[in-house]
Amino acid sequence: MSTEEGEGSLPTTSKIVPSQNYRSTWEVSMKNPEQFWDSMARELHWFRTWDKVLEWNPPFAKWFKGGQINASVNAVDRHVNTWRKNKVAILWEGEPGDRRAITYNELYQEVNRFASVLKNLGVQKGDRIAFYMPMVPEFPAAVLAAARIGATFTVVFSGFSASSLAGRINDCQAKVVVTADGGYRRGKVIQLKEIVDEALASTPSVQKVAVYRRVGREVSMKEGRDYWWHDLMKDSKPYVAPEPLDSSHPLYILYTSGTTGKPKGAVHSTGGYLTFVHATTKWVFDVKEDDVYWCTADIGWVTGHSYVIFGPLSHGLTTVMYEGAPDYPAPDRWWQIIERYGVSIFYTTPTAIRALMKFGDDLPKKYNLNSLRVLGTVGEPINPAAWEWYYNVIGQARCPIVDTWWQTETGGILISPTPNLGIMPLKPGSATLPLPGIEPEIFDEHGKPVKPGEKGFLVIKRPWPGMFITLYNDDDRYKQVYWSRFPGYYYPGDYALKDHDGYFWFLGRADEVLKVAGHRLGTIEIEDAFVGHRAVAEAAVAGRPDAVKGEGIVAFVTLKNGFSASQQLREELKQHVRKAIGPIATPDEIHFVSLLPKTRSGKIMRRVVKAVASGAEIGDVTTLEDGASIEEVKKAIAEFTQSLGS
Ligand code: WTA
Repeated sequence: MSTEEGEGSLPTTSKIVPSQNYRSTWEVSMKNPEQFWDSMARELHWFRTWDKVLEWNPPFAKWFKGGQINASVNAVDRHVNTWRKNKVAILWEGEPGDRRAITYNELYQEVNRFASVLKNLGVQKGDRIAFYMPMVPEFPAAVLAAARIGATFTVVFSGFSASSLAGRINDCQAKVVVTADGGYRRGKVIQLKEIVDEALASTPSVQKVAVYRRVGREVSMKEGRDYWWHDLMKDSKPYVAPEPLDSSHPLYILYTSGTTGKPKGAVHSTGGYLTFVHATTKWVFDVKEDDVYWCTADIGWVTGHSYVIFGPLSHGLTTVMYEGAPDYPAPDRWWQIIERYGVSIFYTTPTAIRALMKFGDDLPKKYNLNSLRVLGTVGEPINPAAWEWYYNVIGQARCPIVDTWWQTETGGILISPTPNLGIMPLKPGSATLPLPGIEPEIFDEHGKPVKPGEKGFLVIKRPWPGMFITLYNDDDRYKQVYWSRFPGYYYPGDYALKDHDGYFWFLGRADEVLKVAGHRLGTIEIEDAFVGHRAVAEAAVAGRPDAVKGEGIVAFVTLKNGFSASQQLREELKQHVRKAIGPIATPDEIHFVSLLPKTRSGKIMRRVVKAVASGAEIGDVTTLEDGASIEEVKKAIAEFTQSLGS
């Protein structure tokens, strides 16, 4: 949907000249990247400076080799030694309306005490620890505590199911889990502890669980394994010396969906990641000391890691954190929060903008949004209509929109306007230009650059400090998925085009990954969930355009002998997938079919499935399907669509 509109508004002539400061910064970064990143890294606190800026053994990078650093020092210690000691770090609002303001000194104390708790629980440098938490201030505090002692953390979004949580815990062999008795979402309590208990029935690596009391309800506590956060804190020390960690020490593992059923554990370094997140927070959001910054992402996603925790805290900003849903109790909640705290930088998703836009202009107009200065979006392409609404109604035509393109794997923003370096002319629907140090290109399928305005595959031509360092315990898959499609270049899996002004337009995924309400899901992951149901023989899943969510999930299912299609079974399957992966993966449409379109070798014709799911012209598909003749594809389509009606 957005792509057509985006392409339609492409200018044909080149009149746009980006700001001189942006251009010269980008050129300097290209000419002498090591010197450039060296000076960026020096904005952080290091225990020991590096011997070498970059050691590049493609595709493995070691940034700031020999340097020693600690993420929690950069997020809190650095500020408590300055006037920022009593500056508010986190302005928190719970969904029921409870509020807290936490200063840098208070956050520092909490981080230290919880670091001591983790040590008491037996966590050591290099151990993995998993988080399954609601959006409370203790969440970032505990994440920083893990970083302080050199434990590698993995955050699992609290909307994922018990089996998704267990899969991630088992993959990284986490020793400790940090969770809560619940969290609020749309007035309901999400029963986090019960989900953890279910997951932990199959995770032998987990020895201890720390449970934060958020809602004050009865939960079962397993003797010798589960401990209340507040009880653990009673025996904690007020200060834990931060571990000086090698720059390449894994700060975290974040699981993300790919083209197989098993999520991939993207591993991020400490020094390179922090340098990149610090620099990009400055360039893109143009942060100033007196800003009130609000990124609405849940910490369960990479946006929450980079732009709720590490970026803003490393700049000593005051950040807003909100626990619940944007439409609870009414769809003006976010505008109310912006007015209440005087938010100046606001960063959210196109899905949220489209959903709130549906309620009209009057709701936001009831609030004073004059404090806003920079507006951002992330996670999926933004269609020009939503862009214009965000710009005119929320930003009152005064605030640049930073449409930020990046991924879990990239650690931080790669392509976006950069108000801090001088704002470039914006085009609604384009993420504009690469950040300093980033060299993107659009390739055709043979790895040749395409002409301006032509669609192709995005590649990034050189390493950058924020890039993930590997997939957890799977260097081979890292090489194969990201570096073998176009040898020597990073392959993100996105379609894009570059227009005559060099502006980038994103056109969706080129692989089997969906973006549903900005959440990343693998079609094969969802198919595996379907096949896990006793009635299902085979399943094929594809996305279809959705006016609010960007993409919706459509499934085609064949049944085993003895089962027949019914509305009841359809509902049962929806619940089944929801239970297997989490509510975010709930299918929008389920079609029962008697067969799936397949090639001679038995592979599902994915482009056919996708075209049928999205109601696209099937004629175009015939030229697209790999490994099958046009006749075969036509026959498969005919049989498939016929069986659809059956
Ligand atoms: C998509 C989210 C268009 C893209 C930070 C990418 C976008 C995937 C944009 C990564 C954008 C992200 N415009 N598409 N501004 N930002 N994407 O790992 O397809 O959840 O590959 O990271 O989201 O999703 P992930």
